[in-house]
Amino acid sequence: MACSSNEQDKYKAMVVTAHPAASQVGIDILKKGGNAIDAAVAVEYALAVCYHSAGNIGGGGFMVYRDKDGHTYTLDFREKAPSKASRDMYLDEEGNVLKNLSIHGGLAAGVPGSVDGIFQKHARFGSMKMEDLIQPAIDLARNGFHITAKQAKRFNDRREIFNKISPNNNYLRQNPTWKEDDILKQEDFALALERIRDNGKAGFYEGETAEAIVNSITNAGGIMSLEDLKNYKSIWRDPIEGHYKNYKFISMPPPSSGGVALYQMFNMLEQYDLDSIQHNSLEYIHLITEIERRVYADRNEHLGDADFWNVPQDQLMDSLYILSRMANYNPNYATRSHLISAGDVYGMESEETTHFSIVDEQGNAVSITTTLNSSYGSKLFVDGCGFLLNNEMDDFSSKPGEPNQYGLVGNEANAIEPNKRMLSSMTPTIMEKDGHLFMVVGSPGGSTIITSVLQNVLNVIEYNMDMQTSVNAPRFHHQWLPDLIYFEKERFDTTVYGQLKEKGHSIKERSSIGRVDAIKVKEDRSLEGGADYRGDDTALGILK
Ligand code: DON
Repeated sequence: MACSSNEQDKYKAMVVTAHPAASQVGIDILKKGGNAIDAAVAVEYALAVCYHSAGNIGGGGFMVYRDKDGHTYTLDFREKAPSKASRDMYLDEEGNVLKNLSIHGGLAAGVPGSVDGIFQKHARFGSMKMEDLIQPAIDLARNGFHITAKQAKRFNDRREIFNKISPNNNYLRQNPTWKEDDILKQEDFALALERIRDNGKAGFYEGETAEAIVNSITNAGGIMSLEDLKNYKSIWRDPIEGHYKNYKFISMPPPSSGGVALYQMFNMLEQYDLDSIQHNSLEYIHLITEIERRVYADRNEHLGDADFWNVPQDQLMDSLYILSRMANYNPNYATRSHLISAGDVYGMESEETTHFSIVDEQGNAVSITTTLNSSYGSKLFVDGCGFLLNNEMDDFSSKPGEPNQYGLVGNEANAIEPNKRMLSSMTPTIMEKDGHLFMVVGSPGGSTIITSVLQNVLNVIEYNMDMQTSVNAPRFHHQWLPDLIYFEKERFDTTVYGQLKEKGHSIKERSSIGRVDAIKVKEDRSLEGGADYRGDDTALGILK
């Protein structure tokens, strides 16, 4: 069930998340007088309990926050490589990548950042007591909640892999075959959340839970230590901000690639007159593809954790450099990717993430994308605690030029180092129009996140779609390598495929791209939600 706000209704506050129970928790907090950060904290905990494939306390993510007065902040609670991690840890003796090691089990997990991120944002901007924000999630875990049809299918589909990696978990223990509306109870998870409620951050990064994390990881062949957990810190970073026409965008800096990529894309796009180009037409798909191709080439070569690698951010965002990247753009022909490498910058070297958007009555806006990486992360449950660990280590480049699970190839900038954060595509973003809050947007989808965000922003500001229509619109994606345009299956007029092939493009269809949960501020300042029909996403609002 995807549900959205009613078009005629005037909403003054709104929560859009990937699960109806989490949206309900968030809107209840706003109704009790909590602000957008309070609601975000409660939603993050709730998603960990009811949207296990991506909601988490064993993973990480990013927040972009714009307060009611227009001040902007970003919080990086991305996972880090354990201190014993090393550059070649996923290679065999011949130097071949042992793919499975960075995807399943103990070695795949980075040091989780979500709980630290929750405490940091709450300490700085929260207004309600933490215990009141975590309690709804504890109640959902203890008393149970109704699973959706899509969740039932996901649990059933992964029976084999869970059995192999973590046979002692709530899905397998409680029910051999799940169906819609079954109730899932997670008493062990409730107890783990109570340790956070009662002991704060230390209730996760130290003591019983930390020991259980390290034991589970060690038993599954991993290298994370108690010190790694105790030392984890999320970081406030300067947002990437730029302009596209009379709009300003505020997005995530490295170790996310999203902000820099959006900056380049918007700057390239400003040279073209989209007024004369029809939405999702041949001309549109060709132009956006050629922009994406060039931007992803740069992403893969130059971006990584700026605390470890000298990311040439200023050069990548230099207007002359950006324009030069489109110098060989040809409206008639594809520029095949092997002819495009990353630009020279001199002097420097399964839809299972989740995004949610919240705007409160005062106009504070939160855009958070958080993940375990793959669906259900490493598939490794923390023994006795009922929650899953991420497999974010696969977002590093295990070996230069070798594609990861999203087909992304990376290089030195994103090589593994102890305590380094792995490069991300997560792109939580906030848009302003004429100095006012205009849009809160983001998506899961691995490498397709950045292009899903771009297309939704363009849908609204160039093609005048309302938020839900924009979210529903068909999506396509190109990421330099592989040199393919991916299209959502059965959503495009296939005559355009033939026309694109004539221009030299290669085409591939896939099931769905991204899952966008977004909020738009209308002219009369009321809010319009877009909850993605591709999932169980739900927009709930408070009427004016
Ligand atoms: O940070 C990233 O870019 C990835 N770990 C995101 C993974 C994701 O979106 C999974 N969904 N398909």
